[in-house]
Amino acid sequence: MTVKTILTEPNPLLRQISKPVESVGAEEKKLMDDMLDTMYSANGIGLAAIQIGIPKRIIVMDLSKNEKKEPRYFVNPIIKNRDIKKSTYEEGCLSVPNQFAEVARPKECEVEYLDYYGNKKILKAQGLLATCIQHEMDHLEGILFIDYLSKLKKSMIIKKLSKAKSTRIVV
Ligand code: NI
Repeated sequence: MTVKTILTEPNPLLRQISKPVESVGAEEKKLMDDMLDTMYSANGIGLAAIQIGIPKRIIVMDLSKNEKKEPRYFVNPIIKNRDIKKSTYEEGCLSVPNQFAEVARPKECEVEYLDYYGNKKILKAQGLLATCIQHEMDHLEGILFIDYLSKLKKSMIIKKLSKAKSTRIVV
């Protein structure tokens, strides 16, 4: 397993729409292993393939709070049902480092997807799990959580991130 570099806003690759995976083979499994490693090493709870520059509809997540890892894999996820009721969480994103903001999303959703072994699954998600899946699925459409904020707040965050990048030196 390999830890990959996570792309950060404003990298245009993050705005690409990811393509469906034809089948879950060795290449996809290797990608999911690498994604999980990358996510754990960055202390994240979710990661989409496009965040390491691969435009495939693949997501990994782990919401476990204890030592025991509980990885989840979603290939070609599709939301079948969404709750009208919303819930609000303060969200962050590995591709938008050190920035957090409240985002309201449907409280519950039903997701159809393929698992690590290519088996078709359906998951009824609520709470943090529902929010996290929806956040990650947005990545597959080139959407970041900052897109839900006011124009002013969003441009302030992008400005901050661009500045952080341009002043970064490696010696
Ligand atoms: Ni994210």
